[in-house]
Amino acid sequence: MATCKGACLLLIAVCLVFQSFQEFAECREGPMIIEELPTVQRSSFPSGFVFGSSTAAYQIEGAAREAGKGASIWDIFSHQPGKILGNKTGDIAVDHYHRYAEDIWLLKDLNMDAYRFSISWTRIFPNGVGVVNWEGVKYYDNLIDHVLELGIDPYVTLYHWDMPQALDNSIGGWLSPDIIDSFSKYARFCFERWGSKVKHWITFNEIHTFAISGYMTGVMAPGRCSAPVCVAGNSDTEPYIVAHHALLSHAHAVDIYRKEFKDTQQGMIGITTDSMWFEPLDSNSSSDKQAAQEAVEAYIGWYLDPIFYGHYPASMRRNLGSNLPTFTAEEAALVKGSQDFVGINHYTSMYATFGISGEIVKTYYKDGVPIGDPTPSDWLFVVPFGIRKLLNWVSERYHNPILYVTENGRAEFNKEDSMPIEDQLKDPERIRYYHDYMQNVLLAVRDGCDVRGYFAWSLLDNFEWSEGYTVRFGIYYVDYKNGLARLPKSSVFWFRQVLRKTFNL
Ligand SMILES: *[C@@H]1O[C@H](CO)[C@@H](O)[C@H](O)[C@H]1NC(C)=O
Ligand SMILES: *[C@@H]1O[C@H](CO)[C@@H](O)[C@H](O)[C@H]1NC(C)=O
Repeated sequence: MATCKGACLLLIAVCLVFQSFQEFAECREGPMIIEELPTVQRSSFPSGFVFGSSTAAYQIEGAAREAGKGASIWDIFSHQPGKILGNKTGDIAVDHYHRYAEDIWLLKDLNMDAYRFSISWTRIFPNGVGVVNWEGVKYYDNLIDHVLELGIDPYVTLYHWDMPQALDNSIGGWLSPDIIDSFSKYARFCFERWGSKVKHWITFNEIHTFAISGYMTGVMAPGRCSAPVCVAGNSDTEPYIVAHHALLSHAHAVDIYRKEFKDTQQGMIGITTDSMWFEPLDSNSSSDKQAAQEAVEAYIGWYLDPIFYGHYPASMRRNLGSNLPTFTAEEAALVKGSQDFVGINHYTSMYATFGISGEIVKTYYKDGVPIGDPTPSDWLFVVPFGIRKLLNWVSERYHNPILYVTENGRAEFNKEDSMPIEDQLKDPERIRYYHDYMQNVLLAVRDGCDVRGYFAWSLLDNFEWSEGYTVRFGIYYVDYKNGLARLPKSSVFWFRQVLRKTFNL
């Protein structure tokens, strides 16, 4: 600071009017190009921009064996000892099945506009196809009516990882092309029953994650991968077969919706894909830039290239050869254009480079320094600019489709055994995360991306898949030691304030 003269002092003064210390630090240390950072407030976003929160059936509903529900692969998988941290299950989860009315009030209290939740396939069809469980249907009737009564818009996901166990047993679930017919019947039932009320349908949540974690690494249901890690599976081929059949199932469901329901129901249908953002390990290396580009293609291009262009990315074809299935001309025509909007789940970013044998190597560290602040999830580092770059990448590659950020958030450790509740309710890191990521979503909107909404993950602490209840992603705290009481974390007050509606009189 010894050389700081008048111009420099002026710069610091300009910096100081920015909102936060971090922005101040970036501004002071960064180049002279200063981007004015927008205030994170509802009124900064385009009018009609939707704010909501997301959940998934198996993570919150509980009532796993109640009211006629059939078993899903997660009911079976979570009961295998050693699969979930602490050997926990979603049998009860946070009991949303019985407390949905209270929980929707909590969402309303955040000044949110929309609720994204998933339907449990086996609550509707306990065996995946055939006999309907009307008690399960009634549950979603009530949930959707309650959401609408509070003036909240339902965004409904049909498949959030809970394949009916009966279909996994009989045909191998997503491994079989026969699944397309079963999924289509389930989807048609949902459109018919709830399509007059639900205007945003999401066929799938994160095919990438259930294909990789369920069939390549085996850490999620149905827990398949190559020997000796798993008892059955093939990590080289199955993830791509599973994803292929899921994409075809998606395309058939969209086709059904458009042919049979869209004209009368006037809704939209899309898919939610997850993707990290990848930075080149060495930002000056053209090879690393290529690696980062191919890493994004293999993550989100895996799904969106077929949906927008009718085929998989050329880089995936080159890298995977015959392990990657191909679409027939007829299938390609069905898959291509099968979206009214794209949902993006985004949490974190990594570096990419090529390994010795030309494979893409991904890492969170460069010269021992992490790409962003670490969090309790070993896969989640805080890199707010990543969401802006990802939204721009998708907008450019696919010619500016309608986008929704359908999940974004971070966790803290479950410290219920070591910390008083009042301290656990203080979550400044979550507020910081939401602030910085929402700010970058806003910057993406200003870059020209057609982002129409933002959904925070998640409304409540919940069953975090293989991590069980060891991490807490909720805006609301769930007191597992005290009857699952819902308590507001600091981020509740932050959302309420940021999302309050102001009127110009
Ligand atoms: C979970 O189950 C595994 C396998 O049976 C066992 O080794 C482990 O001790 C169990 N963990 C807990 C926390 O009960
Ligand atoms: C990239 O190259 C430029 C120009 O040679 C140099 O100033 C900069 O420090 C390099 N950046 C990195 C990350 O190596």
